Amino acid sequence: NHRFSAAALGYNSPPVPTTRTTMRATARAQPNIALIKYWGKRDTEQTLPAVGSISITLADLFTTIRVEFDDAFQGDSLVVNDAENAAMLPRVSRCLDAVVGGERAHAAITSKSNFPIAAGLASSASAFAALVVAADVAAQTHHSRERLAGLAGQASGSAARSIYGGFVELANQDDAIALTELCPAAGWPLCVVVAITATGPKAVGSTEAMETSRETSPFYARWVAQQQADLDDAREAIAAKDFARLAAVAEHNCLKMHSVMWASRPPMVYWNATTLECMDAVRRMQSEGVPVFFTIDAGPQLKAVCEPSAVETVRQRLAATPGVEAVMVTGLGGGAGIIDDD
Ligand code: DP6
Repeated sequence: NHRFSAAALGYNSPPVPTTRTTMRATARAQPNIALIKYWGKRDTEQTLPAVGSISITLADLFTTIRVEFDDAFQGDSLVVNDAENAAMLPRVSRCLDAVVGGERAHAAITSKSNFPIAAGLASSASAFAALVVAADVAAQTHHSRERLAGLAGQASGSAARSIYGGFVELANQDDAIALTELCPAAGWPLCVVVAITATGPKAVGSTEAMETSRETSPFYARWVAQQQADLDDAREAIAAKDFARLAAVAEHNCLKMHSVMWASRPPMVYWNATTLECMDAVRRMQSEGVPVFFTIDAGPQLKAVCEPSAVETVRQRLAATPGVEAVMVTGLGGGAGIIDDD
C-alpha cells in the first residue's frame, strides 16, 4: 500500500517491491461517565448528538489498544481481551478508515480492558478513544486532539469525551462537536463508586435505543429543548465546585433521560430492583449529610459520585446493599494518550 511506502514517509530511496512496511502504536484511554447525558442523535450517519453533554473521565479503569498497519496483512483483524471479535470489526475498520483514509494498509488491532465489559462503563468510549489515538500515531496522520475527538465521536458519541481528562463538555456546533476540558481531574478530585447489580448483556444497545426514543417518546422533544439549561447549570456548579448544585442537576438530568426511555415504544427500562435499592441507599446517605449523588446509564449499574472524604462510607454502604454483586472505586483521570509497550 503506497500510503505507507518509504517515499510517502519522506525517505529518499524508492521502496523495492519486497519492502514490507509495518507501523504500529499503542494507546490507552479511560471510560467516562456522563453527568449531563447524551441521549439522541441529530445525524445518525455522522453520529452527531442531538444534545451536548458533560462527563467525568475515570482514573483507574482503562482500555489499551495496539494498532499495527502492515502492507502484508490480507485484511483487518480484531482481538478483544484475547478473543477474536468479528462483531465489532466493521465498526473498528470504519473508524480506522476515517482516521487514516480508505487507502490505508490493513491493520491488526488488539484491545484489552482492565474492567469487566458487564460493568456498564461504556467500554466503547475508552476503546474508540484509544483506537483513534493509536491509529493517528501509527499512521502518522498528525490530527489535532479536537479532530481525534471528532473521529472517536463518529464511532461512538460518548467516546469523544474520553480523549480528554477530568470534567469534559461536549458541545454541539453547526455540523460538528466541540470539546472543552472544564476542570482537570486534580482540580476537583471527586470519586466514583460503581455498584454492579447485574452482569448479563444489556437488553438494547444505546445506538438503537436512542433512535427508538427519538422516534416514539413523547418527552424526547422536551428533553432536547431543556438540555442547554442543564448544561449551563452543571458548568456553573463545576466552576464553583458546588457539590450540592452538581448533585441536583446531575440526578435530575439522569432521571429525565430515563423518563424519555420509559415513555418510548417499546419502553426501555434498564433498571432492576437492585438499581432502585442502590438509589435508596444513596438517598439515605444524602439525608445523613454524606456528599454523594447517583447517575445511571443504559444499563442496571448505579454510579455514585462522591467527595473523597465520603468514598469509604459510600463503598461500604453500596457493597452492603442487597443484590449488589460487586463495587468498583476510582478517582478521576486524564485523557487518552500513547503508551510505550515495546
Ligand atoms: C446513556 O456513546 O454508547 O451512556 O453514539 O450510539 O455509540 P453511540 O452511543 P453511546 O451512548 C452513551 C449513552 C449514555 C449517556 C452518555 O454517556 O452521555
